Amino acid sequence: MQILVALLASTALAFAPRATVRAPTSRLGSVWYDAQPQRRALIAGNWKLNPSTAQDADALLALLASNVRTMAAPPEIVIFPPMPYLQKALEAVDGTGIAVGAQDISLEESGAFTGEVAASMVRSLGCDWALVGHSERRTHYDETDEICNKKVQKCLAQDGLKVILCVGETEDEFESELLETIVSLQVRKGLAGVDVADADRIAIAYEPIWAIGTGKVATPEQAQAAHVAVRRALSEVLGAEAARRVRVQYGGSVTPESVDRLMAQPDVDGALVGGASLVAEKFSRICEFSAPGTPETAPPREITARVAVACQNALGESPIWSQRTNTLYWVSAVEGELWRWNCEDAPYKIVPRFGTTLGFVAARAGGGLLLGGEDAILSLDETAREAIVLAAPPMEGDTRPNDGRVDRDGRMVMGMYNNYHRAGASQGEDNSGLYRFGADFEYEELLDYKFRVSNCCCFPADGRTVYFADTPTRKIYAFDYPKSGKPSNRRLIWTQPPHWPGGPDGAQCDAEGMIWVALNGAGRVVRIDPATGAIDLVVHTPGCPTPTSCTFGGPDLDELFITTAARPAGGKLFRAKMPFGIKGLPEPEWQGANN
Ligand code: PGA
Repeated sequence: MQILVALLASTALAFAPRATVRAPTSRLGSVWYDAQPQRRALIAGNWKLNPSTAQDADALLALLASNVRTMAAPPEIVIFPPMPYLQKALEAVDGTGIAVGAQDISLEESGAFTGEVAASMVRSLGCDWALVGHSERRTHYDETDEICNKKVQKCLAQDGLKVILCVGETEDEFESELLETIVSLQVRKGLAGVDVADADRIAIAYEPIWAIGTGKVATPEQAQAAHVAVRRALSEVLGAEAARRVRVQYGGSVTPESVDRLMAQPDVDGALVGGASLVAEKFSRICEFSAPGTPETAPPREITARVAVACQNALGESPIWSQRTNTLYWVSAVEGELWRWNCEDAPYKIVPRFGTTLGFVAARAGGGLLLGGEDAILSLDETAREAIVLAAPPMEGDTRPNDGRVDRDGRMVMGMYNNYHRAGASQGEDNSGLYRFGADFEYEELLDYKFRVSNCCCFPADGRTVYFADTPTRKIYAFDYPKSGKPSNRRLIWTQPPHWPGGPDGAQCDAEGMIWVALNGAGRVVRIDPATGAIDLVVHTPGCPTPTSCTFGGPDLDELFITTAARPAGGKLFRAKMPFGIKGLPEPEWQGANN
């Protein structure tokens, strides 16, 4: 037993006043991910002023109808033929599930308006959709956002008629980084005054004008970022709840070749297809895009995290979310700093008065924190103003506490770090152990071998497996983790591929039993299925190759927080909203007695 109670009075460490940093205020350029995966894909074909004859239209309709009839699980499909073909289109696709829509509708309802077609006319014919605000109408017919808004209102006034509002920036606007400003304005103005009850009758087509009919398709990542901007604007007009349900399509040179990767983006819910919708085979293939998450063929989905706190940690580590205080805590190891943020107020750091390098922070049952320092295991009270030494860490050779997490039985599992390793990857020998301690600080060594740099320690929901990596080996193992006794049945679950530099660092489990690993050196956090070793999600930390650890947080545990190291270019805290309803697990609290 190594409790240093006698030292408590003399070593009580008072913190200096907190230092604040500003929370980022600008949301432009950042990426926000929706956790609602339930939107049904919507693929639309905009025929524009094509084909030239009714006979060609018949042929196209017949082919398309027969293709869609044989599809196993078609998405929602709508075609927008020119007005004179609407009737025949409705007849040709009857029974296929394909809906038909009008490419435009009039601002007028009836009367002396030669050449116009009213919403009531197309609706009474049997059309389910209308297209509003296509860039060709905005450019060639001077349709402003105000006109588009009136047309949207005209559509929604027709019982059961749905509307796709098109938005998108010009190439100049794109080059000037005005994308978010422009599409946000177009969405907000185009939908002004729309009743939230009509949200399910609206879809947005994001079509960068520079991509329409040009063959220049936006990259999936560009499309995703734009769709996030659209959804943000939607939530301003319709509220967050409705914004989650509205489908956002991508349009602009969509082809069978580009559709899969576009549709793999979490906020791309469909496509508005021009040129390729005039070739039945192409349009059919687009409708049969490779469904997101399809095993084997689906590449991992890529997400970009954004900077949440510009904390400039030399070595950010060990993020935990406390549900007790709704606060994220993390340490900057070598500076001996503790950071905290409730995601609302300005984040702040407890300035270094610990006098020790910090390896981990953990929450304590009953409140307060446990800190794993190089020279001492420390306890902090609820207000985090005072630190007291609880115990000395188990020092074997030249090591210090590194990565660690509380297991699901409330004990701390802490790995050590070979201090020689700081000097270089080949310095020193394997001298670090993995230890567990409960309230009495009886250190139990868990592995029957030593290693260099402990990492990846985390536990799935049932607590009966532990993951572990010795970072320089670039391998992650799973062990059976009994309630008492040593972990056993070591099995390799993942090896970092050679084209990714660095190694596996901190990790966390999600509620689905997947393991999220910060790949320090490779600029990403990956989600690994421990059963297969497959990666299905990649979260990038742009500009920062050195993510060090991650955890889930926020009131709903649906955001991933990522700590990073400063060298060569990092040190900030990143966050990424989780797609597909992914959530973390509550962080267990260390069950040690208070002080
Ligand atoms: P495109 O047209 O697919 O031919 O680029 C898209 C659109 O204008 O809706």
